[in-house]
Amino acid sequence: MKRVWVTGGAGFIGNHLVRYLLHTKEAWEIHTIDALTYAGNLENLADVLPHPRHKFHKVDVADREAIQNLWEKAPPDAILHLAAESHVDRSILSPLDFVHTNVLGTVTLLEMARIHWKGRSDVLFYQVSTDEVYGSLAEGEFFTEGSPYDPRSPYSASKAAADHFVRAYGHTYGIPFLISNCGNNYGPYQFPEKLIPLTITHLIERKPIPVYGKGENVRDWIHVEDHVRAIALLLEKGKVGHTYLIGAESPRRNIEIVQLLCDLYDEITGETCSRSLITFVKDRPGHDLRYAIKPSPHLKALGWRPQIPLEEGLRQTIHWYLSHKEWLDSVRSGEYQRYYELQYRERLGS
Ligand code: NAD
Ligand code: TYD
Repeated sequence: MKRVWVTGGAGFIGNHLVRYLLHTKEAWEIHTIDALTYAGNLENLADVLPHPRHKFHKVDVADREAIQNLWEKAPPDAILHLAAESHVDRSILSPLDFVHTNVLGTVTLLEMARIHWKGRSDVLFYQVSTDEVYGSLAEGEFFTEGSPYDPRSPYSASKAAADHFVRAYGHTYGIPFLISNCGNNYGPYQFPEKLIPLTITHLIERKPIPVYGKGENVRDWIHVEDHVRAIALLLEKGKVGHTYLIGAESPRRNIEIVQLLCDLYDEITGETCSRSLITFVKDRPGHDLRYAIKPSPHLKALGWRPQIPLEEGLRQTIHWYLSHKEWLDSVRSGEYQRYYELQYRERLGS
């Protein structure tokens, strides 16, 4: 049996990935390693916590001793590394948290791999990364696998550093690795600090929807389940040492996304005039203008295609949030309220 660690498995993308692997890889034992920060929630994994091939471990990936102990008990054949501080706005408020988890956490795992995987070629360190490491594009340009790194926020700098460490460990110590860089994910279980779930939450609660600047910034959107299918495919069929760009070729201006969400929400609920909630607010410092991805040809050659068109995915996501109001209440704990005040009080004057 193959033993796979999924770090960050209690987060947004991680919980979809854990569920997908449990359902599709019948011979694999899946270990979720997660510190359960504000973004990690055991509720996200409720249906698979009792699964006989799934084990959960509450561990900080930067805690060397804890990772060493876990490695002795349950040594992995592959590590799918998703654990991260993932929100750009939070990285602007407290960059050191991002250095701790995204840089130190990644290097801690790599150190364990260096020690314990010596000489093994049948193992894999899979780094799940972001297109944000490549910086910001002008109109008409696209990120490709050869794009130079140019991170411009504390979040993207920490992810870029982690990617560099993964490549450095591969080159220096021969650790088999693979990196994929994906665009903006959306879908069920996304923490309501990110644009799409924040907008849906404010639509439900009829609160002003904050759009930074003029809403002209472009992000390339992909449904989380399409991303997860790509990761699972690359885990088995990707070329060791390679980098893959994952995207659904759906770049949109933020204002277009928010307007579409308003219109879909009105259509689904019978509400009217949701667009009137849109409120342009002070921009994010250093806000990258445009991300757009040309997905890796090799990924397409392996047969991967995004299966969920943007509008259909957004409609499904609105339905999910409407039917999971308890989940929303439970994840927006005291900590979230503090963050929300800090981030939006001045912007929204509320
Ligand atoms: P998320 O914030 O929803 O979840 C992160 C998870 O990591 C949480 O469960 C959290 O508890 C856990 N975690 C945080 N610090 C930890 C630590 N020190 N030790 C162990 N666990 C810790 O993030 P997400 O959106 O699911 O993103 C997952 C990964 O995918 C990240 O590496 C992110 O950079 C990458 N990514 C995300 C997107 C996106 O649009 N969300 C796009 C491309 C790449
Ligand atoms: P976000 O979901 O935070 O993802 P990222 O910063 O990683 O791309 O933001 C997506 C886009 O939406 C980004 O251009 C910033 C913008 N945005 C707003 O306009 N208002 C908001 O309240 C948030 C959270 C984001």
